[in-house]
Amino acid sequence: MGDRTCLAIVLAAGEGTRMRSARPKVLHEIAGQSLLALVLDAVRRAGSTAAAVVVGPDADAVAAEAKRVLPGVEIFVQSERLGTAHAVLAAKAAMARSVDDVLVIYGDTPLIRPQTLRRMREALAAGAAVAVLGFRPRDPAGYGRLVMEGGDLVAIREEIDASAAERGIGLCNGGLMAFDGKAVLPILERIGRNNRKGEFYLTDAVAIARAMTLKAVAIETEEDDVRGINTKAQLAETEAVLQQRLRKTAMEAGVTMVAPETVFLSADTKFGRDVVVEPFVVFGAGVTVEDNAVIRSFSHLDHAHVGKGALVGPYARLRPGARLGADVHIGNFVEIKESVIEDGAKANHLAYIGDARLGAGANFGAGAIVCNYDGVAKHRTDIGKGAFIGSNAALVAPVSIGDGAYVATGSVITHDVPP
Ligand code: UD1
Ligand code: CA
Repeated sequence: MGDRTCLAIVLAAGEGTRMRSARPKVLHEIAGQSLLALVLDAVRRAGSTAAAVVVGPDADAVAAEAKRVLPGVEIFVQSERLGTAHAVLAAKAAMARSVDDVLVIYGDTPLIRPQTLRRMREALAAGAAVAVLGFRPRDPAGYGRLVMEGGDLVAIREEIDASAAERGIGLCNGGLMAFDGKAVLPILERIGRNNRKGEFYLTDAVAIARAMTLKAVAIETEEDDVRGINTKAQLAETEAVLQQRLRKTAMEAGVTMVAPETVFLSADTKFGRDVVVEPFVVFGAGVTVEDNAVIRSFSHLDHAHVGKGALVGPYARLRPGARLGADVHIGNFVEIKESVIEDGAKANHLAYIGDARLGAGANFGAGAIVCNYDGVAKHRTDIGKGAFIGSNAALVAPVSIGDGAYVATGSVITHDVPP
């Protein structure tokens, strides 16, 4: 499979009306990432060499998100909703460039794992023209049924078109399909709309491939891989499954979690070794925590970096751009935004540090704040190494405090302080 090229086509033209939201369905987030970003990430990790996203009309925001995640992605518009095969054919120009494997994935199934996509590609490499991802839901109602004969997949029957006997089949279509790149267009172009819904069904590809004497197979997987999201309740259920996966991965990599079920991670949270995360901590997107750091209870971190051996919390808030060096201490009710806190510096109680540098070994006292905003613009504060900022001091930015300087309790600093 190593050198086979692979085009992934993600269908993101969904209306998402049951989400009761102004936001397109695939832009809803779980674990700090949009559904679309999670799917595109899985596609990338499954070794795809090209990606296409099919969007509905007026879906600029969806296209922009796709390009943010995968800058090389191609966007195609399905202007009328005429069925799943019609949606895939919107990306015909991408399929026409010869490619070995074509993967078709729905943009609202964010838990699809790269290894499952790879299993589908392996079936193609072993000679199948069509591989369909099957699963056995507790309640098969609403899903297409996989009709098998002697180990081969012979057809997929949509529920409303199925006979009573076919409705009794437990193996269902998860919706993901893989096609041999040479066969995909000849198959898709033969699909008609002779079914009860009058749609171009992608699922007809199986029977058509068989009629062309090509091989179709089913790959069975667990339900989570194909869990689709249509409602806010399903969004929350999917989030819970993903959180469990992320916690398990973090613990397998050596993170200690006292009560993992109370810790919320982002899909991109990165941990070093021997990190301890106490109960009730929330990691927004873009957080890196280095070796031996301890994140204490009730802390909230977002786009932040925590250096080796640092101690954060309890009740700390690290906002975007908080960059803590080694052995930094950030204590209760301390908020840090867009600031570098150098090695060994401390802000232990009730403080705000924004748009600033706190030099190595400096101490930022209880209740001290940086006044970074004058009501119009933000300004910077620079605090030198080893400086001491007394309790309840207000540093009015722009201002700089020299290395080793001492600011007395309750001072309001409006001019630079020399070293
Ligand atoms: C589809 C499958 C069914 C499978 C189920 C799994 C077909 C015909 N049926 O049924 O066998 O069990 O998924 O969830 O494929 N879409 C478009 N454009 C369209 C129509 C659909 O982009 O014109 C997209 C939708 O946004 C969605 C996906 O394709 O992401 C599936 O469409 P949907 O109408 O939900 O198919 P199902 O009836 O659920
Ligand atoms: Ca569906």
